[in-house]
Amino acid sequence: MNIFGTHNKKEWSELPARKDFEFLSPGDIYLDSACQTLRPQPVLDAMSLYFHEYNACGGRVKYEWGKRVDEAVEKTRALVLKRIGKSEKEYQVAFTLNTTYGLNLLLQQLPQQTYSRMLTSDIEHNSVFLPTTTAANRLAIPRTVLRRNEDGSLAYAETDLTNAIAVVNATSSIDGRSLTNAATFANDLHATSGVLILDGAQSMVGDAPLLRETDFDALCFSSHKTYGPSLGVIVVKKQLLNSLELSFVGGGMVAELTEDSFTLPTNDPAAALEPGLQDFAGIIGLGAALNWLGSYRPEGRSQREQQEKLSRILFEGLSQLPNIHLLNHEPSSTLSFYSDDIDAHRLAIFLSKQNIMARSGYFCCHYYLQNVKKYPPLLRLSVGLHNTEHDVQTTLSVIKKIMKNIK
Ligand SMILES: Cc1ncc(COP(=O)(O)O)c(C=O)c1O
Repeated sequence: MNIFGTHNKKEWSELPARKDFEFLSPGDIYLDSACQTLRPQPVLDAMSLYFHEYNACGGRVKYEWGKRVDEAVEKTRALVLKRIGKSEKEYQVAFTLNTTYGLNLLLQQLPQQTYSRMLTSDIEHNSVFLPTTTAANRLAIPRTVLRRNEDGSLAYAETDLTNAIAVVNATSSIDGRSLTNAATFANDLHATSGVLILDGAQSMVGDAPLLRETDFDALCFSSHKTYGPSLGVIVVKKQLLNSLELSFVGGGMVAELTEDSFTLPTNDPAAALEPGLQDFAGIIGLGAALNWLGSYRPEGRSQREQQEKLSRILFEGLSQLPNIHLLNHEPSSTLSFYSDDIDAHRLAIFLSKQNIMARSGYFCCHYYLQNVKKYPPLLRLSVGLHNTEHDVQTTLSVIKKIMKNIK
């Protein structure tokens, strides 16, 4: 026994290995999946196979390895669309670095004189907040920051929407709240010639149904928050893609070239957002991650059941602790709080001494957390599909001990 809790190496060594995460030491409690999910073994295997067996580039070469890459890349594009129930007739899938790059590629290339206003919301990540600011300046249009309700819905008046470009998250990285009125918002925007770009960085695991029912114009997400390797994905309606004024251009984007003009390849419209050689191992890894997500059952339960169970344990346990302020109004796999008794960064360091990995600070949501709410730094626990009941119970008991010991 130590001052923080009751667990020790001996107990850990008796815990069963977690299926598909056998590489993780049973003593390591990783609760930062909102930043990066762990990569399950099938993803690592798919990438290793690419490096060992067919390490070619795609879209350019005639030898067999290249054909294999092309097939795998197309399979990943199809798996992305399948997960969110969209059709390749209407949408293109392009790969990039991360959600931030995807949003910037769209926003910084929007056509001039097309939109009358930019809309976003108060709980956005800096990756939405900043690019909507610079894009609105470039387009010389006003930008409005709308409020998000406790249930995650966006508060708007229909008069806000005319000819607007709206960029909002489908799932918050602060407390996991979802854009519960996403489908209605998209329809209302479209009725007034508006366009919806969704930040789906946190959405592809638990909020895929919400994405399925929403007629968005574009969605950006990060494979590294979706059990895949570090990679960004843009899913975009062909109409919006074709309207972009391209300024970020290069290799792989040319059908015909003259001294001072070029045309894009008509057989590969996604190339408009994919200048230069792509991360083929990453794209293949994402395909493996999406396949894996389709069938993985953590601790023998459905993913939703398991996430709900672990989230409820943490939510109820934290709610009972004195002097802890939970930002969440209901259980979620992403929970943030602060304590009157201990600074969140100090708490994160104490937790890390017990191999519990949690985030402290403002999680790149400075506008809402620091500027609007004026909260002190927060601690965030984000549960992933590798986590077990033992992980969250241990975390709760360690937090309780720390709180008791600092008094
Ligand atoms: C809601 C949300 N949007 C955008 C981002 C930015 O993602 P990335 O750093 O992968 O570009 C994050 C990252 O945490 C996020 O949680």
